[in-house]
Amino acid sequence: MQILKLLDENDAYYCFDLENRIEEFKYDLQAQDFGIKCKIITRGNSHKPLDSYNWSLSNMIFEMRERHEAGIFDAVYLDGAHNFIHDGLAVCLLKELIKDGGYLILDDLFWSYAESSTVREWGLQRFTKEQTEDYQIFHVQEIFLTHDPNWEKLSSPKDERGVFRKRSKHDDDNGEEILSYPFQEAYETKIIMTPKHAAESK
Ligand SMILES: C[S@@+](CC[C@H](N)C(=O)[O-])C[C@H]1O[C@@H](n2cnc3c(N)ncnc32)[C@H](O)[C@@H]1O
Repeated sequence: MQILKLLDENDAYYCFDLENRIEEFKYDLQAQDFGIKCKIITRGNSHKPLDSYNWSLSNMIFEMRERHEAGIFDAVYLDGAHNFIHDGLAVCLLKELIKDGGYLILDDLFWSYAESSTVREWGLQRFTKEQTEDYQIFHVQEIFLTHDPNWEKLSSPKDERGVFRKRSKHDDDNGEEILSYPFQEAYETKIIMTPKHAAESK
């Protein structure tokens, strides 16, 4: 909500989730006047076991290519299934969908099924012991982003979020060092709460 309020009429905010959840989210936003000015675009997907936001993202790549564009998103916050099978693919797709100079933020780097109070059993039925104990988003980060020379890592090793910037061919032109990321102030002043912030403030 805090991010939505920071955007203006020229911005578009895309949200992806299961179709019923995304419809509820849209309904809630429309039901109250939150003073949101930007356009909200929702893409829902089915509850079929292997369906996910990745299908929507892949279709957006086709649409983008048809328009001969080199990116759609300025910043993406990935807080989805938290597993390698969905979010590894999501990162691959997002790497093409994010504009040069744009940002990708991975939430919950240190989350595991084994330590989850809600989906531990669900995870144990579907993944190996090693996979349930691993931090799968951290795994995604290390495989697809940390060693990719086209992406600059802005977060520190112990941060619970991975923050990356897609290098742009204009980077060398002005020699500027990137010192901040989108909504950093909101996170640092804890306007946007993370689970860790919430625990600390109790
Ligand atoms: C940790 S929650 C985060 C939700 C939201 N970012 C927030 O902070 O309220 C993860 C979200 O990913 C969605 N998700 C998980 N697996 C999914 C899938 N296969 N397809 C679409 N959405 C999925 C869940 O429905 C859930 O809303």
